[in-house]
Amino acid sequence: MSQSKSGQRNEYLNRRTFAIISHPDAGKTTITEKILLFGGAIQVAGSVKSRKADRHATSDWMAMEQERGISITSSIMQFPYKGRTMNLLDTPGHADFSEDTYRTLTAVDSALMVIDCAKGVEERTIKLMEVCRLRTTPIYTFINKLDREGKDPIELLDEVEDVLKIRCAPITWPIGMGKRLKGVYHFIDDEVLLYEAGKNYETQQAVVIKGLNSPELDEKLGDVAAELREEIELVQGASHKFDKQAYLNGELSPVFFGSAINNFGVQPLLDSFVEHAPEPQPRATTERVVEPDETKCSGFVFKIQANMDPNHRDRVAFMRICSGVFTQGMKLKNSRTGKDIKIPNALTFLAEHRDHVEHAYPGDIIGIHNHGTISIGDSFSETENLQFTGIPSFAPELFRRARLKDPLKLKALQKGLAQLSEEGATQFFRPLISNELILGAVGVLQFEVVAYRLKREYNVEAIFENVDTRTAYWVDTDDDKKMQQFRNKNEMNLAEDAHGHLVYLAPSMVNLQLAQDRHPDIRFHNTTETL
Ligand code: G4P
Repeated sequence: MSQSKSGQRNEYLNRRTFAIISHPDAGKTTITEKILLFGGAIQVAGSVKSRKADRHATSDWMAMEQERGISITSSIMQFPYKGRTMNLLDTPGHADFSEDTYRTLTAVDSALMVIDCAKGVEERTIKLMEVCRLRTTPIYTFINKLDREGKDPIELLDEVEDVLKIRCAPITWPIGMGKRLKGVYHFIDDEVLLYEAGKNYETQQAVVIKGLNSPELDEKLGDVAAELREEIELVQGASHKFDKQAYLNGELSPVFFGSAINNFGVQPLLDSFVEHAPEPQPRATTERVVEPDETKCSGFVFKIQANMDPNHRDRVAFMRICSGVFTQGMKLKNSRTGKDIKIPNALTFLAEHRDHVEHAYPGDIIGIHNHGTISIGDSFSETENLQFTGIPSFAPELFRRARLKDPLKLKALQKGLAQLSEEGATQFFRPLISNELILGAVGVLQFEVVAYRLKREYNVEAIFENVDTRTAYWVDTDDDKKMQQFRNKNEMNLAEDAHGHLVYLAPSMVNLQLAQDRHPDIRFHNTTETL
């Protein structure tokens, strides 16, 4: 079935593709759940957490997530909200999984930042904000847990402005805090929204009082009403006004206060977000900018997950559609390999189950089954050779040697390490002159995750030991003779990665510097991006 141009336009203009970013524990999961609940995608709060528990039962490595209270994988959820189609890309908050989060952020058009009112701006939030700034991603801010005592709201706004270097425009303001929290005042609508505490398992409609000066407010709040009026006047004079263009430029963040767990102030946040968050945006490629309303389909892969179905050993590549309409069974060209692939069984990710899609539009994410033929950063297009830019690859900073408990399992170990490294969180190296297998990662927890998954998914028990490698640089040159000389002289330090690229493993920075000085014709690359 072909789609008319205006049909395609309506579909993509209705998409909102976003991520929620926060320091662990600020309330990202709780907010996600409320969004799904208010959008009607789930019926009862608690489903997102129980979803975690289900996964724990079916795929045991997720138990690590539970034990440590961190979210390891990103997941993708599509659901309707007020007539729009929302694509929510979940991101792990823990620093050791940051490269996954960073890449996921390249696939969104905006973000929602959650801050704990007692803790203020935390370290992960600063990092994530830096990543968003690279692409001037527009940010909404939700200051959470107002049902507990926290920092003064004005102080929190100052902190966000000073630390995150973004102007804040409060849209709602809390009425009280901790046990005294009554609700929020909405600056733009001039409405007071009063909530009832302890109703976290239902969608709760606030009692709405129109106008800050309404006598009803005095009836409901007593002395607090006068205090509130004074405070609002003060805040209005001292803070920035909402400016949509400044928000879209990533210069100003609309700020909402509330308590996710109690549904305080969540609905106004979501309603405003759905109204103002940008639709799918144009994307840069090395050739040209791709507009979402172009007729030909294109997209890029920002994430790979191995063994989503452990019985089939397949990998799912997550592709963001950037233009045109993806149709089930379509042929797309992978610009890295130059090969066309037919995609007959793309997945879409609904809140509660995975399903097959007939069509996907710009802003949507589809999952493509493959057996290792697709890599992170691969770009696909119907006709042209387009390479989308800005999908980061990361230089491993920590190295460990994999040692087998059962030496007969070497093949399975190699296979497992190679397949898991396709996910991009770890890199796998085979030294030229030994049978060792070395794994590089950005965060130390990755080694534990890999060991755990090797056991569960490949039935291989491996231990990761310290190894004398400080840094890894990919090497290449246009001169075959020079490369041969380089190989002969440095065999001890050379390895191949999972794709057969040559890598120099340096025991120290001084050693690396010496190698670079001695071989000026060899190019050293910190990541595979520039190879
Ligand atoms: P995360 O995904 O950002 O890591 O945070 P998550 O939503 O899991 O929330 C972290 C903890 O903070 C959870 O408590 C959650 O219930 C609590 N929380 C979230 N929003 C609010 C809020 O508005 N007020 C208060 N007081 N707490 C909130 P937990 O004890 O770790 O988990 P659980 O046992 O409650 O599930």
